Amino acid sequence: MKFEIDSIEHIDTGTIELPSTQTILAEIEEAIATEGSFLGNGKTALVHSIKGNPRYCMKIIQDQRLDDLYGIDGHPPHNDIDLEFELLSEVASLGGAVKIPKPCLTWKIHDENGKKVKVMFMTRMDAVSIKDVHEGSPIPEKLKSDEFFKKLKEFIVRLHEEAHIYHRDIASSNIMIEIATGDPVLIDFGDSIKLRDPDERPYTVRDSLGRVKYSYPNDLNALEEVKRLLEVKLLTIDKNQQKL
Ligand SMILES: Nc1ncnc2c1ncn2[C@@H]1O[C@H](COP(=O)(O)OP(=O)(O)OP(=O)(O)O)[C@@H](O)[C@H]1O
Ligand SMILES: [Mg+2]
Repeated sequence: MKFEIDSIEHIDTGTIELPSTQTILAEIEEAIATEGSFLGNGKTALVHSIKGNPRYCMKIIQDQRLDDLYGIDGHPPHNDIDLEFELLSEVASLGGAVKIPKPCLTWKIHDENGKKVKVMFMTRMDAVSIKDVHEGSPIPEKLKSDEFFKKLKEFIVRLHEEAHIYHRDIASSNIMIEIATGDPVLIDFGDSIKLRDPDERPYTVRDSLGRVKYSYPNDLNALEEVKRLLEVKLLTIDKNQQKL
């Protein structure tokens, strides 16, 4: 499997220093072949660190994996990499108490069999996802749950009201805890939408006859559920420590 580049977009050379193109293509090849040493493995993507520059990582989206997941009726459609990039940049520029990876570059590549892969380069967050915490990763010492979720809630309300952006995949895998500060990090705008029309509904996709085709979870309700489950986990850990 030898990859070649079809296109490179959103180049922000002021912010990113990457190893050579050939080195990265070889890394992507290895990443896909082994699915090893990744930072995270979601439904749609593999997220890998970049050996030559630990401050960045790449989200690798294989068309085949998307087709396998969403092929039948195409719902929920995963955002095109360029839309994900644009939403992430807009959200990252909002500022505030929630940290967001800064996207730097997208690549569209293919191998000799015509297999297509999209790659988004972004800053690597020194953080652990809440999903990983549920699966046994250590909890950052500075985490204060009430403050953490208050900041996230305020940020999500700002996203809706100021930017008209709805995340639509608020889940334990898409909220991370920064290791050094315990601050919230929000990632993965692959299912998000920016509303252009005030009559558009953010969470419901309808067919041409007006029937509901697909419903996304409400951001704030989903956040409450992530909070509830993390608090149960924190209590369990607390009780186990008392027993020691
Ligand atoms: N910028 C980043 N820095 C560090 N780790 C990251 C970063 N982005 C993603 N990750 C890790 O990779 C995992 C998968 O990333 P992401 O959520 O973007 O992929 P996905 O396939 O779209 O996920 P989902 O299953 O939610 O659809 C995350 O849960 C997280 O652990
Ligand atoms: Mg995700």
